[in-house]
Amino acid sequence: MKVPGYRDHPTEAWDPVAPADAGEAEDFLRRCYLENLRLGPVEPRLAIVRAQIAATGTYTHTTEELSYGAKLAWRNASRCIGRLYWRSLVVLDRRRARTADDIFSLLVHHLTTAGRDAIRPVISIFAAAQPGRPFARVWNEQLIRYAGYQGAKGCPVGDPRQTRFTAAMQGFGWRGKGDAFDVLPLAIETPAEGVRLYELPERAIREVPIAHPEYAWFAELGLRWHAVPAISNMRLTIGGVHYPLAPFNGWYLGTEIGARNFADADRFNMLPVVAARLGLDTSSETTLWRDRALVELNRAVLWSFEQAGVKITDHHTESQRFMAHLRTEERAGRPVPADWTWIVPPMSGSLTPVFHRYYEELDLRPAFYLDAEAATLARDGSRHCPHGEN
Ligand code: ARG
Repeated sequence: MKVPGYRDHPTEAWDPVAPADAGEAEDFLRRCYLENLRLGPVEPRLAIVRAQIAATGTYTHTTEELSYGAKLAWRNASRCIGRLYWRSLVVLDRRRARTADDIFSLLVHHLTTAGRDAIRPVISIFAAAQPGRPFARVWNEQLIRYAGYQGAKGCPVGDPRQTRFTAAMQGFGWRGKGDAFDVLPLAIETPAEGVRLYELPERAIREVPIAHPEYAWFAELGLRWHAVPAISNMRLTIGGVHYPLAPFNGWYLGTEIGARNFADADRFNMLPVVAARLGLDTSSETTLWRDRALVELNRAVLWSFEQAGVKITDHHTESQRFMAHLRTEERAGRPVPADWTWIVPPMSGSLTPVFHRYYEELDLRPAFYLDAEAATLARDGSRHCPHGEN
């Protein structure tokens, strides 16, 4: 149900039993071949695809179609400010992998590829869902996330966003160290094996310890963050075909870590701690102690990543690049669907050019969607609500 005034991620009701939508297949293929003339005429390909759908209920993308489809899904991602680089996506075709062991080793490969030298935007595309058949998936929302525990005296330890997922992993027998930055295991589900847990090897987890260019005490806070944000539970849909397992990554925008992961009261909630160390007057909101602490926290994140040689961008630079992307796309005669509430950075919004305008809100495909079941699995580590909560 659509709640009026509530801006949700655009979604479609995916019917996993329905055959591939022939109209969507045609729209995608026409666009793909129009934007890539070297692929030749589209008509013969359309005839083959129509026949395949009629006979089997679905069709198989060529490597070129798969690769361009993934890039289009990125280009269409209305919440992403980093879309200027959509053509540079590295697409790894993993459609043949079946077992959880195979999937796991390819996910490790994904992380080592993405995190090598700078950071490369990479997507690994596993088997398409066949209409009416069970499919492989990863339960985690990202390949790398920190566990969350309910510590002594009700004090949360780690990332509170992961508390229920962490408890579910413990229910499967996983044991973390109980620290603030324990990397969660991957929960890989396949039709033949059910769900299996895998511990990522150290070489797959690049992390940056957080320090500050001026305040030596900052390092004592013991903060760190992982270099690669790799979303692992969104469904990629290309031309009526659905890929439920298609993890993808870019590089971080500093504010994602400094203004959300570390700052949100229901995440690491570091502003009161940073403000206390800075000796700020927290007796009144009008001292803007939160804002002042936020700036230093974000400087620390950007500086630490730069020191470590891990690619990251600041919100000023990335906003300018997004404006450049809008101009390029406009020149190409294409709309750029964008969600203002996500594009505008979570700090200093009006200092960036992306703040001072409106955007078209369109649900263009190919696209990435977060299905309700995938969201539940990532939050709870289970298909059933614990204690009947919701
Ligand atoms: N905001 C998420 C996080 O902090 C990551 C989302 C994807 N971000 C990206 N730069 N590609 O982990």
